[in-house]
Amino acid sequence: RTVYVNGEYLPETEASISIFDRGFLMADGVYEVTSVLDGKLIDFDGHAVRLSRSLNELEMNNPISKADLLEVHRELVRLNEIEEGLIYLQITRGSDGDRDFAFPDPETTVPTIVLFTQNKPGLADSPAAKRGAKIISIDDIRWGRRDIKTVQLLYPSMGKMMAKKAGCDDAWMVEDGFVTEGTSNNAYIVKGNKIITRALSNDILHGITRAAVLRFAREAQMEVEERNFTIDEAKQADEAFTTSASAFVMPVVEIDGVALGDGTPGRVAPRLREIYLDEMR
Ligand code: PDD
Repeated sequence: RTVYVNGEYLPETEASISIFDRGFLMADGVYEVTSVLDGKLIDFDGHAVRLSRSLNELEMNNPISKADLLEVHRELVRLNEIEEGLIYLQITRGSDGDRDFAFPDPETTVPTIVLFTQNKPGLADSPAAKRGAKIISIDDIRWGRRDIKTVQLLYPSMGKMMAKKAGCDDAWMVEDGFVTEGTSNNAYIVKGNKIITRALSNDILHGITRAAVLRFAREAQMEVEERNFTIDEAKQADEAFTTSASAFVMPVVEIDGVALGDGTPGRVAPRLREIYLDEMR
């Protein structure tokens, strides 16, 4: 694979960053994941806008213009011949060559930027999406700025492992009884023809896929309600699903061992997945 590090395209084995990089020492960095279908980027603009916002919230300089970033994305897709897959982008604060809790001087510290591709044939025509996901619920013990897409992903990784150990696919996180989001996706339930999902706040990531899916749902005259829902309400829902750049719309068929509806992906989630893929590709 060819990867991109600080202005250079390199074989992955030759890429390196400093051991003092604050991304490595302190998870002081942000990231984006953009999907590729038919060799084309899906919603690059949305991801670029959220990246700027994340950097801003952490008082980090953006080391690359949007136009250059687009060019790097396209070049990596070309060099690695990605038809279907993902592009991972990470920007960390860099370092001034030492470890300190205080941020280094932004005038003299250059952020580190890394991009790589992941080849994922079958991303759109996914068997997992046809089956639907089984999920468990876990406590949401993450920090209070989940709207910033930081690389602090240890707890979501642990949640994913808890799900796997329970024979499931993923976990939804619950705070004060209400579902916040999935380990790496936004969470929804369906009651009748109504799609219910938590409103945007600092409690969840403002999903780029979420924005597009809710827009398409409203355009298709589906009712959307942005409000909190409990895990108990979710278990009694007709359907549930998640959205993310890496799995688009993923039906949920079981929560904590309770089958939703007839235990199949249902009607609304597969339809939204189809609409999303049709509109975006
Ligand atoms: N995760 N919520 C969380 C906690 C996420 O990590 C993600 C994305 C989402 C969905 O956001 P979007 O629709 O913009 O992808 C919601 C990415 C895919 C990841 O970590 O791989």
